[in-house]
Amino acid sequence: MSVTNHQLIASAPLSSSSSSFFAHSNITSSRAQIVGVRVKNAGVVKCVATPPAQQTAYTSKVSRNPNMAKLEAGYLFPEIGRRRSAHMLKYPDAQVISLGIGDTTEPIPDVITSAMAKRAHDLSTLDGYSGYGAEQGEKKVRAAIASTYYGGLGIEEGDIFVSDGAKCDIARLQMLFGSDVTMAVQDPSYPAYVDSSVIMGQTGQYQKDSEKYGKIEYMRCIPENGFFPDLSTVGKTEIIFFCSPNNPTGAAATREQLTKLVQFAKDNGSIIVYDSAYAMYISDDSPRSIYEIPGAKEVAIETASFSKYAGFTGVRLGWTVVPKELLFSDGFPVAKDFNRIVCTCFNGASNISQAGGLACLSPQGLEAMKEVIGFYKENTKIIVDTFKSLGFNVYGGTNAPYVWVHFPGRSSWDVFSEILEKTHVVTTPGSGFGPGGEGFVRVSAFGHRDNILEACRRFKELYK
Ligand SMILES: Cc1ncc(COP(=O)(O)O)c(C=O)c1O
Repeated sequence: MSVTNHQLIASAPLSSSSSSFFAHSNITSSRAQIVGVRVKNAGVVKCVATPPAQQTAYTSKVSRNPNMAKLEAGYLFPEIGRRRSAHMLKYPDAQVISLGIGDTTEPIPDVITSAMAKRAHDLSTLDGYSGYGAEQGEKKVRAAIASTYYGGLGIEEGDIFVSDGAKCDIARLQMLFGSDVTMAVQDPSYPAYVDSSVIMGQTGQYQKDSEKYGKIEYMRCIPENGFFPDLSTVGKTEIIFFCSPNNPTGAAATREQLTKLVQFAKDNGSIIVYDSAYAMYISDDSPRSIYEIPGAKEVAIETASFSKYAGFTGVRLGWTVVPKELLFSDGFPVAKDFNRIVCTCFNGASNISQAGGLACLSPQGLEAMKEVIGFYKENTKIIVDTFKSLGFNVYGGTNAPYVWVHFPGRSSWDVFSEILEKTHVVTTPGSGFGPGGEGFVRVSAFGHRDNILEACRRFKELYK
């Protein structure tokens, strides 16, 4: 039986990527009109409304992956996109401002796009054409990451796997670990860790009362503990996902805290997956890499990304460091298995993106990235000052592009809905990042300055 585009749209999972794909097909239904709506001052919004319940005349004989069925709700950000779409249908003239998903908004610096354009043009020439590259990334890109980003930390070119972004690497790392490992996450944390763990079958069922999955160790990170878990109460797990600066709280772990974390991993024989996607936002002397901590190479993998530094959320380029010193319990190097996963599941990052990555790491590229980051950090300050002036307790912001605002005693989704309904500003409900985020809302500093100022004006109006 053939499946038309129309049916696919109606039954597609809620995903912003699928919606932008179908936006280019020539479907004329009202659903197509929802896709790619341009809202004044808000840029193009790419998301779809909830698909209607589908009557299916035919089912395959393939049973659903039971791990997929364990996933409690849709992935957080498509769900926010869905609510934003519904809001825009309700208020078609509203000037919706999106400070929710955490997507970058400012143009990529010219020094970086010029390098990508040159590489793209070179592909039109006999001499400049190249097809598949090394799965691990181009030698010069790996070398530049090792020397520029990890200079002096003993990380070598061969330890670096260039990728199409940190999220994709998180999934590949989960494939590396398999279904039998136990894992710990900061609570709250970036949802990809928990969701990929569920999909891999590492967890039990979702427990409605605790809002946690069985077999995951949730490491509470709240203002009372300075957003660093009390490790004396954390159960032993094989894998520990740790993100610093943290999305969503914006907290960066100090050297002392990371030293404790590395020691904790060593004591338990665990592997840390350290997500440093926001490291360049650090303004104080918190470590930018886990490898600044002595002994970390024996216990930690680090994943990183150009997404939030150079506006590469759409270009796609990141990397993961698996040091040769990191060994499984039988002495087998973790990097060798990761290499096998990468060679099996990935055909190398785009050569055009890698040309951009190389330009990012040039002296001019680094300067340009710092400027972009500086711009977003000014936005952060505007948001922090706004909420502080309204009497809220506000966290994050100093070392990250996220502001974590406390609404004590209130449900995050209620606050999210209140802000959306009354100000037409999209934020992210803290509970979407784990039960520890309940009562908080994350406000992203990724936005054009006019939109940030306008959003803050509206916040002041609402909460004065
Ligand atoms: C903590 C964290 N890790 C990873 C990612 C994904 O980054 P990438 O665009 O490189 O896939 C994000 C994106 O928001 C993030 O917040």
